[in-house]
Amino acid sequence: MNHRLRFITCGSVDDGKSSLIGRLLYDTKQIFDDQYQAIQKDSERFGTQGAVPDLALLVDGLQAEREQGITIDVAYRFFSTPQRAFIVADTPGHEQYTRNMATGASTADAAVVLVDARKGVLTQTRRHSRILALMGVKQVVLAVNKMDMVDWHQATFDTICADYMAFASELGLGTVQTIPMSALTGDNISSTHTSPHTPWYSGPTLLQWLEAVPNAQPTAHAPLRMAVQMVLRPNADFRGYAGRIAQGTVRAGDPIVVLPSSARSTVKQVFIGEQAVAQAHTGDSVCITLADERDISRGDVICAAQTPLEVAEQFHAQVVWMHDSPLVPGRPYMLKLHHLTVQATVSSIRHQIDPNTGAHLAARELALNDIAAVHLALSKPLPFAPYADNRDLGGFILIDRVTNATVGAGTLDFALRRDHNLHWQALAVNKTARAALMHQKPRCVWFTGLSGSGKSTLASLLEKRLHAQGQHTYVLDGDNVRHGLNRDLGFTEADRAENVRRVAEVARLMVDAGLVVIVAFISPFRAERDFARGLFAPDEFMEVFVDTPLAECEKRDVKGLYALARAGKIPNFTGISSPYEAPTAPELRVGDAAETTDAALERVFQKIISLT
Ligand code: ADX
Repeated sequence: MNHRLRFITCGSVDDGKSSLIGRLLYDTKQIFDDQYQAIQKDSERFGTQGAVPDLALLVDGLQAEREQGITIDVAYRFFSTPQRAFIVADTPGHEQYTRNMATGASTADAAVVLVDARKGVLTQTRRHSRILALMGVKQVVLAVNKMDMVDWHQATFDTICADYMAFASELGLGTVQTIPMSALTGDNISSTHTSPHTPWYSGPTLLQWLEAVPNAQPTAHAPLRMAVQMVLRPNADFRGYAGRIAQGTVRAGDPIVVLPSSARSTVKQVFIGEQAVAQAHTGDSVCITLADERDISRGDVICAAQTPLEVAEQFHAQVVWMHDSPLVPGRPYMLKLHHLTVQATVSSIRHQIDPNTGAHLAARELALNDIAAVHLALSKPLPFAPYADNRDLGGFILIDRVTNATVGAGTLDFALRRDHNLHWQALAVNKTARAALMHQKPRCVWFTGLSGSGKSTLASLLEKRLHAQGQHTYVLDGDNVRHGLNRDLGFTEADRAENVRRVAEVARLMVDAGLVVIVAFISPFRAERDFARGLFAPDEFMEVFVDTPLAECEKRDVKGLYALARAGKIPNFTGISSPYEAPTAPELRVGDAAETTDAALERVFQKIISLT
């Protein structure tokens, strides 16, 4: 029996996807007789096909049930034949569901692209095929459905196939099998011989093709790669590394290298479950032990010693954005690649990809369902494989740091060389030495709050007070920095994220120089403030929320900007037409009307001293 096959069906809304899946389930006896009878009854009442049982009702019925209460974006259905077991990913066909299709395609070995024989290749067909190519699905059936509606006309079929083949070769889709069929009548779907309606067709039926097509997994002959999912230590004498073999074969005695540490050893034993085995292959979940004690943890990758993976921290990648709030370059997200989660930012959007035409478009942000080529920067180097070589080691998801929602998915193309020759220069004089000379503890005091809340006033008074004490200080103020370093940035979400990222990095350098740095930026988004916090040791960073109510800031309107914003003359104005995300756990909160500026300043000052 062949290895289980995962495949995806895609096509436009009315191409007959539900009928096809219904037909496969019915023909492979996954539907009970009473269900079939019910469908027959329903078909007479609701079906679109007259007296012929409308199998689409079966699938659509399950769907309606499924969608009650929860939204499942991709439904997986199971069926089997004596030759093989199948998992079919059924994704909604509407244009706005790119992300669901990408999700389904990311684990698929093969794809069935449906077209309606009366309509031929449509924009949607192209769009879906492009996503298949992007997600590395290389084995495709072009299922020309509803052939009964065109009188099984061979020339119609040939024209559609020629049209699609030209497009498929441009995409690099690999082998495409074209099959004329009718999901409604069942011709060329699951019988063991081709339909009498298509004497001119001599290829396989759909099920024959599905039974025979190889799995997309890399072969057992490829060099070993296994990402460690868990370190098993049931007792002091046993230390095993558990995970699924992403590719290759492992045997006792094989020399290996562990990445990213580059530690070397040899395999002592291989277990599948409790059972010691001579060898294990791609796709097997194993536990292996090594001849030497090595420091190995979750997310490390065990590789064949002669051909280790590449380790990198900057990449060229493709991303499908899956969230309502946009992807903003410069904003920190969490990236999960096999069993590792690290911080990541999109350093630039190279181009957005029009899924219909493949055209490259300029973009500053990505919206829901957008696809783009990007440059990614991670917080530390990771072992990886290009997605085209290995999906397990090259496919990633992006997670929002605050809500933990999955906001994007993507594929790594290749490492960017730009960081390869950069090393962190260890300098003879360090932060401690610099600070000692100044007799102070370097730190960053970060004021955040609305425009006009009093951040700059407090920052300036605080500096005066510290300076009077003999401390070496510097104030980074939003308005001032925007005149120089950040003068290329405006007030869109993306520009603000970059504005705050840069100032956080500058503050880090200044703290490294030994200074007490006071930052006064609106810094309206939690993600960037958290990023700033992450650049410092816990006792070096102090967030002060200047929580002056909007009404009060607007009443003061020192710069006259609120009046202009209300009149619609300043777009994206914080508090009016752009959001402010209040800190959830600042070290200090000031800004109550009842408290004088001097009293607030005193509290900030005392808090700084208490953190020493
Ligand atoms: S941040 O949001 O990117 O952190 P930043 O602190 O640098 O903002 O700059 C805020 C200052 O820019 C405000 O104090 C105000 O003087 C000015 N400004 C001009 N346009 C805007 C706007 N659309 N929203 C907020 N502030 C603005």
